[in-house]
Amino acid sequence: MALRLDKYLTELGAGTRSEVKKQIKAGLVTVNGAVAKKPEQKVDETGDEVCLRGERLRYTAFEYYLFHKPAGCVSATQDNMHRTVMDYLSDTARGDLFPVGRLDLDTEGLLLITNDGALAHALLSPSRHVAKTYYARVQGVVDETDVNFFKNGVDIGEEKPARPADLVILGCKEDVSEITLTITEGKFHQVRRMMASRGMTVAYLERRQEGALTLGNLPRGCVRELNAREIRELEESAGLAE
Ligand code: URA
Repeated sequence: MALRLDKYLTELGAGTRSEVKKQIKAGLVTVNGAVAKKPEQKVDETGDEVCLRGERLRYTAFEYYLFHKPAGCVSATQDNMHRTVMDYLSDTARGDLFPVGRLDLDTEGLLLITNDGALAHALLSPSRHVAKTYYARVQGVVDETDVNFFKNGVDIGEEKPARPADLVILGCKEDVSEITLTITEGKFHQVRRMMASRGMTVAYLERRQEGALTLGNLPRGCVRELNAREIRELEESAGLAE
């Protein structure tokens, strides 16, 4: 597939569009050994040898990162007020990465970052019912009645009740309950609204799992690449793998 040279360089994290144009103008980029002159020059990302300052750039179509989102970071690539997921990636991260879905500003935990639109679409598709597990501390005493309500699908003020969800009570101390909740949808503020439907407020929320992908012990604010097995299992979770 042929791609504009400036787009190719931007995608590989060489800089912004205007920065890479300057690099090309300055003669720092070669394509198959010849100095490139025009940003609009077409390159074949799998066949052509593109070098920046003499160093070969390697093109991989898709990249996948697990990010432990901290509170105060928005699930977006641009924002005027808050830090975004891009602020946690390395300076050389490619420009076409985006977070898959949204966590609230104060929700922490697992956020997949990729440029694989098909996987993102499948993971977010309401019809695929990809499971997401959240850990929460809630104000109130969660009991078996709540477990049963969630099993049957609670009303969260939408046309249809929430799909059946798996609520596990981990403990309760001084009217604060610790739970995990596994849901197979991704409606706006879904966990908070489900708890609110039982008269409880979520004080802390962290996503720990999405499909087969788990947060593990990745420290808050850190990013790591997924390995091949994790990518395959995530594709399976999203119903994409044969
Ligand atoms: N449910 C919520 O209420 N908030 C999130 O950020 C994620 C799920």
